[in-house]
Amino acid sequence: TKKDSIKQLLASTEYDREVTVRGWVRHRRGSKEVFFVHLNDGSTIQNIQIVVNASNLDSNVLNQITVGACLQVNGNLVASQGAGQSCEVQASDVVILGAADPEKYPIQPKKHSMEFLRENAHLRMRTNTFSAVFRLRHAAAYAIHQYFNERGFFYLHAPIITGSDAEGAGEMFQVTTLPLDNPPKNEEGKIDFKEDFFGQPTNLSVSGQLQGELAAMGLGLIYTFGPTFRAENSNTTRHLAEFWMIEPEMAFYEQEDNHNLAEDFLKYLIKYVLENCQDDLKFLDERFTKENNGKPTNERSEMGLLEKLEFVAANDFARVSYTEAINILLNSKPHKKKKFKFPVEWGIDMQSEHERYLVEKHFKKPVIVYDYPRNIKAFYMKQNEGEEEGRETVRAMDILVPGIGEIIGGSQREDDLEHLKTRMDEVGIPHHELEWYLDLRRFGSAPHSGFGLGFERFILFITGMANIRDVIPFPRTPGNARF
Ligand code: 4AD
Ligand code: MG
Repeated sequence: TKKDSIKQLLASTEYDREVTVRGWVRHRRGSKEVFFVHLNDGSTIQNIQIVVNASNLDSNVLNQITVGACLQVNGNLVASQGAGQSCEVQASDVVILGAADPEKYPIQPKKHSMEFLRENAHLRMRTNTFSAVFRLRHAAAYAIHQYFNERGFFYLHAPIITGSDAEGAGEMFQVTTLPLDNPPKNEEGKIDFKEDFFGQPTNLSVSGQLQGELAAMGLGLIYTFGPTFRAENSNTTRHLAEFWMIEPEMAFYEQEDNHNLAEDFLKYLIKYVLENCQDDLKFLDERFTKENNGKPTNERSEMGLLEKLEFVAANDFARVSYTEAINILLNSKPHKKKKFKFPVEWGIDMQSEHERYLVEKHFKKPVIVYDYPRNIKAFYMKQNEGEEEGRETVRAMDILVPGIGEIIGGSQREDDLEHLKTRMDEVGIPHHELEWYLDLRRFGSAPHSGFGLGFERFILFITGMANIRDVIPFPRTPGNARF
């Protein structure tokens, strides 16, 4: 038997033929004698309508056709009489593959809170919203590989367990095989990692960048795409302890090449989902419109979702230096009237209120901010030359987008051995820990740049969802690692 998905059946125009459909009941309405079942198999946001004539079926089967049950239906595919549906199936036989007790099944056809669905995360993929989000997540991942493949980048698999701390931010999950209740100690009383399986302290990777740089200095153009881990104990709508990051690294790219690639990349991905995921985007757009009492907006954007994505794909991003950005904030109205919670001055690490002001109030579009103060950025970023003392900057860039804030962070890398060593001394990174990284500058060094796109932040942006926990199938946040 041919197994057509519901998506394929709905697109078909070959009517009056026997088909078999399998899926989960989303909705049931009608009389006891003749009723309509909306069946969904996940292939598309649309349900297929099954017309059931009770006289054809056993009463035991009829009673189990309830929301959440999984059915196999054999029947005739016919052009639909009703509006909005191309075709429907007139059931001749229904098999209950798995019943779902209507008294107990938690996902009913009514509006559930995101909180409730997060608690029932094992069942939330059966809702329209979450299935749309995860189909979009798949499409974006596919488009990412396609983008890089078309441009001669190689997909590099960076390690997950590593002895290096790429960001120097110290927010790492430790990995060890030593018994935690009784670890071997050295003379100083510290854990003796020599007896560990790896023979050294290891952690889960916070970023594949440094390994990406190694690869770029041989393969030229590479990208990583994998999970990364940050042991930040923060409970925000933008942070996960385990998130996916895309990190391209490019030999011979300087700062502006990096900005151009990042902007082109984001626009490509947005165009891809606009072209390939219209149904799901439309559904999400309408959902947010409804939730906002008919206003064509979601809570974090002045535009509707589709309108926002089309706008971003079609318009140049703003580009400002950090220094210009600080001046904009200093002259901003909320600053004069009601000051920002965190005061603005040159040298601060911009808080999300500052970033959101820049993108949402000032520029009203994505912004690339570059040339950040040296002291607030990672050790590996290339230093700008000839700057006033106390105002030294590095060739860092962040891309900020409406509704989210930072979505990309990157930089041109320091390719000068002496500058890099000086910087490591200043921030207290022992050279011996990163000899392999320094070797890249010893042997055949080259200008190179790269950036990291937070995959879930990007999915938040394209779906309009409000909480990062709702765009990754199994969110890892403090106190959340059930399955
Ligand atoms: O700005 P970050 O920390 O930069 C890096 O890790 C660099 N090594 C990237 C590079 O140059 N190759 O992280 C990059 C992006 C952020 O802009 C953000 O989108 C996302 O990763 N991100 C997080 N997403 C979810 N949860 C977290 N805890 C995140 N931390 C960073
Ligand atoms: Mg960053």
